[in-house]
Amino acid sequence: MGSLVNYIYILSGALFVLSLKWMNSPVTARRGVFAGEAGMLMAIGGTLIGHHANWEWILAALFIGTAVGVPIAYIMPMTAVPQRTAMSHACGALAAALVGTAEYYQRQPHAGTELVGFVMVALVIETLLGFLTFTGSLMAMGKLQEILPSRPLVYKNQNAINFVLFAIAIGLGVRVIMVPTDTWIFPIFAGLSLVFGVLLILPIGGADMPTVIALLNSYAGLSACAMGFALDNKLLIIAGALDGSSGLILSIIMCKAMNRSFTNVLFGAFGQIQPSKAKGEQRPVRSASAEEAASILEAASSVIIVPGYGLAVAQAQHKIRELFDTLMKRGIDVKFAIHPVAGRMPGHMNVLLAEADIPYDRLIEMDDINGEFAQCDVALVIGANDVTNPGARSDKSSPIFGMPILDVDKAHTVMVIKRSMSPGFAGIDNDLYYMDKTLMLFGDAKAFVSEILKELPAAVR
Ligand code: TAP
Repeated sequence: MGSLVNYIYILSGALFVLSLKWMNSPVTARRGVFAGEAGMLMAIGGTLIGHHANWEWILAALFIGTAVGVPIAYIMPMTAVPQRTAMSHACGALAAALVGTAEYYQRQPHAGTELVGFVMVALVIETLLGFLTFTGSLMAMGKLQEILPSRPLVYKNQNAINFVLFAIAIGLGVRVIMVPTDTWIFPIFAGLSLVFGVLLILPIGGADMPTVIALLNSYAGLSACAMGFALDNKLLIIAGALDGSSGLILSIIMCKAMNRSFTNVLFGAFGQIQPSKAKGEQRPVRSASAEEAASILEAASSVIIVPGYGLAVAQAQHKIRELFDTLMKRGIDVKFAIHPVAGRMPGHMNVLLAEADIPYDRLIEMDDINGEFAQCDVALVIGANDVTNPGARSDKSSPIFGMPILDVDKAHTVMVIKRSMSPGFAGIDNDLYYMDKTLMLFGDAKAFVSEILKELPAAVR
């Protein structure tokens, strides 16, 4: 039986690795999800076979988990996926922390034989990361769902206080490792880890949460990996390490794409209101109607559509598909420019556009499309702001200085659909809107694209 379980574990570990590889591209992402699900099913099956499970409890847990999970997956709108992910991390991390706690108290009476140094180190890492990820993820979810204020909450000496608290938690953890029989320390250690999770997230603004969620994902993975060492379960070690490293890599990619450092995201209190910048100067802009926009599109031979967060808010992806079809039928070359951090979660634009069945070969990554803007007749920006801000290239005082952007300003004509002159995530004005070649199309993305579509047949004549 033991070797059968090992084979099952090897197979599910391989499926997890393939799943991550396939999820790297929109073309194979669906296969990646199925591979991950199959791997997890096999992992659960293998564990149940290997550990004479208590079936009533397992079935009850499966039933409750399914009854809660399936409706959430259907009800949650696409724009709420980051907070849903945060909730999943909170549940996973709590499970890891509780398993660690139970193991400690169960094995503690046999401290000399069962709680040897290595196991204790694994249990302490597991519970520390598990508890802090649990409260941290709940805070992240609350901020994104706006149950909690999404602005950074800062106070004097905040980083120093957090650092001291974390150091105390680590110190207590070391004490638990050294003297596992001192059972009174463990609850204080666990309590401090829970409090640290809350304090860690307080100074981080709601809009930075997706990056933090990727980081918390990595902590939850490391916690599960430590649990694998504590329970001597090889698949948990593999799955936890994959989860931990992929979460970390993802947050590094996100930070790079925003030209921010980890410390700036975690301790920079980014997203605080900066009155002078947020208000902006009253500079003139040129605006246009849907009819004028339709005529310009009709006269173009190449159009690059630049989607951003506003597209997700407006849920305009299906209307944009109609626009794409209509323009392509008229012989206009239409492509989509995808910025790595457009929207609020990794792959946000890919997922939305894939939902509307826009062909993958029309979605072009930033580095590949940037050279094409100079030859393109019209860049149609739909609900994107920061990722098109030329200030990121030239304005050293800008909070997004150095962030790679889409070179929209190089197109012959730029049209921007957004509702107002409000700033985007970074809270700053966008010079693109004041250029002579730019036309502002004020309105909700879905409604405005519908208006353009109505005007397009007339523009043919
Ligand atoms: P943003 O800079 O946030 O701009 C979005 C724009 O959409 C806003 O200016 C808003 O203007 C407009 N908008 C909102 N609702 C709309 C609607 N219904 N119809 C039309 N327009 C609407 O978005 P972006 O350009 O996609 O840039 C993403 C930003 O988020 C970057 O700064 C990035 O660093 C940050 N970020 C991204 C991620 C990931 S992983 N994607 C994670 C964390 C942070 P109005 O209010 O005037 O309409």
